[in-house]
Amino acid sequence: MSLYIVDHPLVAHKLTILRDKNTPTKDFRALVEEIGMFLTYEATRDLPLTTRKIETPLCAMEAPTLSGKKLAVVPILRAGLGLVEGVLRMVPSAKVGHIGLYRDEETLQPVKYFCKMPPDIAQRDVLVVDPMLATGGSACAAIAFMKEYGCQNIKLMVLVAAPEGVSKVEREHPEVPVYCAALDDHLNQRGYIVPGLGDAGDRIFGTL
Ligand code: PRP
Ligand code: URA
Repeated sequence: MSLYIVDHPLVAHKLTILRDKNTPTKDFRALVEEIGMFLTYEATRDLPLTTRKIETPLCAMEAPTLSGKKLAVVPILRAGLGLVEGVLRMVPSAKVGHIGLYRDEETLQPVKYFCKMPPDIAQRDVLVVDPMLATGGSACAAIAFMKEYGCQNIKLMVLVAAPEGVSKVEREHPEVPVYCAALDDHLNQRGYIVPGLGDAGDRIFGTL
């Protein structure tokens, strides 16, 4: 499995503000979107290019243009919604599919409550997005779900990953690359990433 940690200074700086418990909801939401743009930049680095003939004001040229399959961004509800705008600012033509999963607070197992995909999802490259990869239960369930739809090229993009979650994705979906802004130390007894940033959904939506 490939783990890409995007170690750009701007990402590190913005992530520090996100982690700070005193950062208000409005700033938190904006920063999730901004870091989402940086991560999308890395997660799309291998998109295939072809060329097409254009005319600049000075001459004709064969210029690079994206080829290949179209992209779908699939946020894991709720917190994944915070990353969608950042992806769409980089890839405006992407379609959006939604998977509703929440983590049962006792068992830490993901529970599915919603799903709506673009009709041609099986033909699209898929970027599953969620700010937190903790036990990995939610991400692995979402990836398995996309495979049931027939999707073949799936990537996972998160802000903060725990080693436990990375290992679970590696075990269950070894071909799925993971892009993150940081790999944190461990999970606490309640399944929260440490040092982490707390409950991402609550901080994005102000439901603390
Ligand atoms: C959070 C987070 C992930 C999941 C990560 O969602 O956004 O989806 O937990 O944990 P895991 O790796 O152990 O599965 P949560 O269940 O709190 O729902 P929310 O997005 O609605 O807040
Ligand atoms: N979900 C969150 O929102 N934060 C964590 O630290 C773990 C799971």
